[in-house]
Order: sequence, then C-alpha cells, then structure tokens
Amino acid sequence: MQFVDASARNVLICLVDANPNYRASVANALTSFYQIAEFSEQGTALEGIAFNPPAAVILDENVLPRGGLPLLREICCVPDLDRVPIICTATHDRSIFLADAMALGVRTTLVKPFRRSVLLQALSAEINGKIERSWVRIEPIQRAALKRTLTAFNSIADLIDDGKPLPYDHVREACEPVVNAVCNGNYKDMLNGVRDHDNYTYVHSLRVSIFLTIFGHSIGIRGQDLLTLASGGLVHDVGKMSVPHHILNTPNRLTDEEMAIMRGHVTSTAKFLRGSSGLPRGAAIIAEQHHEKLDGTGYPLGLKGKELNELARMATIIDVFGALTDRRAYKEAMEPEQALHVMTQLKNQLDQHLLATFRKVLLDVAKDLQ
Ligand SMILES: [Fe+2]
Ligand SMILES: [Fe+2]
Repeated sequence: MQFVDASARNVLICLVDANPNYRASVANALTSFYQIAEFSEQGTALEGIAFNPPAAVILDENVLPRGGLPLLREICCVPDLDRVPIICTATHDRSIFLADAMALGVRTTLVKPFRRSVLLQALSAEINGKIERSWVRIEPIQRAALKRTLTAFNSIADLIDDGKPLPYDHVREACEPVVNAVCNGNYKDMLNGVRDHDNYTYVHSLRVSIFLTIFGHSIGIRGQDLLTLASGGLVHDVGKMSVPHHILNTPNRLTDEEMAIMRGHVTSTAKFLRGSSGLPRGAAIIAEQHHEKLDGTGYPLGLKGKELNELARMATIIDVFGALTDRRAYKEAMEPEQALHVMTQLKNQLDQHLLATFRKVLLDVAKDLQ
C-alpha cells in the first residue's frame, strides 16, 4: 500500500526583475510556499536557471540590461529549459513585452500590481496544472471539494495581507463538499487528488480537514458539528503563510530563533481567526490547541490533561498523523502503520484511547488509496 507519494523535491521559483523592492514584495508573498532565487540581470539569471532549473520562472519586462524579452528568447532556445513554465509580468496590460511573450508561447501574464492569491493561483496552475486538470476525471462532489478548498485557501492569503477578517461563510461553503463526500464514504479521490500537489500548506490543511471529518463521522458527529471539524482543519495552520520557506522546509534542526518563528504560526493563526465573523468556537479550538500535548510539553500555552478537551485531543492526533504522513521537500512520507506505531510511543502526549479509535478508522481508509 502506498499512502502518499514518497518522491521528494524542493520547489524552486526564479524571480527575475531589476526592481529590488518588487522582488522583495513577491518573495515575501511566496515566502512559505516556495524557495525563491532572485535575479536582476539577464546573464546571471540565465546561468542560475540553467544551473538549477526551477519549477517556474517569474519574468518581468524590467530586466538589466535590455529588458525581459532577450532573456525569454534565450530560455526558449535552451533544450530542457523550454519546458519550464514562465509567468511574465509588466506594469501595463498593453505592454509589448507581454504580447511578445505570448507570441513565444507564454501562457500566463500578470499586470502589476496583482494580488497575492492571483500570483499563487497562477503559479499553482503552472506547476500543478497537470494535477489540477486531472481533477476533471474525479467524482463531482470530491472535485468541488478540491476546487473550492484550494480557492478559499488562496484567498485567505489576501485577507491576511489586507488585515481583513475571514468570513466563515467562505470556509463553510468550501468545506460542505468535503463533509458530503465523507458522509457518502467517497473521499479517496480527494486524498489521491492532492498526492503530488506542491502547495504544501494547502495539502496538509486539506488532509487534516478530511481526516478530522472522517474521524468525527466515525464517532457519531454529524451536521454542523462535522462542518466545524472540516473548517477547523482547513484553517488550522493559516498562520504558516507568514513563516519563511527555509524555516518551514528545512531538514535541519531549527535554531531557537527559528523555532520561535515556527511556533509563532499558532498565535498568528489564532489572531487572524479571532477577527473572523461567525467562526464556530470548535474550529478556533482546533487551530489554537493542535500543538498542545497531554503532558504539558506542547505549545503555545502548555495546556495539560483535563485542560485539553476531546476536540483538542483529536486535533493534535490528526495533526501529528498528517505531518508524519505528508510528503515534504526534505523527507519521504511515512506509511500510516509506521506513523501510528510512532504515535503509540507518545503515550504521555497523545490520548491513546482516541488514538486506538483513529487507528481502526484510518487503516480502513488507507486500504485502497493509490
Ligand atoms: Fe500547526
Ligand atoms: Fe498542522
């Protein structure tokens, strides 16, 4: 049984623009999603792109010394590099550069300034295009679940940037097909559909959402409460959108300072969700307490034993299981049996009674995943 694809790759994006302020703002927008290599000049950019071919190039009209077009022509002439997706950017929609780029076969062009969600969606469509297109072949409810949750997830990036609250309606509507699919017992296409998708935070959040819903359904939770679990899972880590890629994706031990930034995602998520209109308390608890442990060694509050209600205990179990079985740039996915074995060793941290229930449900789910 293969639960999650074990092939690992780091997702590199090359950003070519002579304007350092623009490069900094784009790099910041993509911080938690991709590894970024920045270039301002044609020669070094071509060398960098050829040396370490990226998953995509974001190429502006403004490149030293003669604009973006000569570099685009060069990339198109190098065998192998001609398959790297390129997103061209300019300050006007009537830019000659964009027209020339399209004539050379570039599919995606963006006019500055563009929203963070627009850039994320454009990159996702280019890098994960084959995967997202394959969703047309899956069962309609599960297809709707994937499309709606991905759109909702990307739009949260804009809300965070703008300091605007999250309307719970958006999350609930995106999660309704997730719940329907689980209630109908048809959720495997959703899990398989994101197996190779590169938007790690989205994939992890969706898997936590699906597993929490499956778990909840198996212990008799129904209706709006099930929707609360699905929603809580989808938004539980949105604060990670502000954590830099190198901290989020390092195989190395984090320094104390990096660890503090990483752990800060819980507080950022909680702060963001606090302003949300209509978010059920249960969904907020999932986000706020999914790193708390029974023995008080968790964070951010170090809650202990009875201070953690059943929802928080479920969230912690699902989050740990999700993290162990996720495919990451730096590690292979762990098989579910192995992950569950590791989790049974964490006797003082995880609720072993709930874990035993989850084990039975999960091994059933895992049976015929690709
Ligand atoms: Fe988290
Ligand atoms: Fe998580």
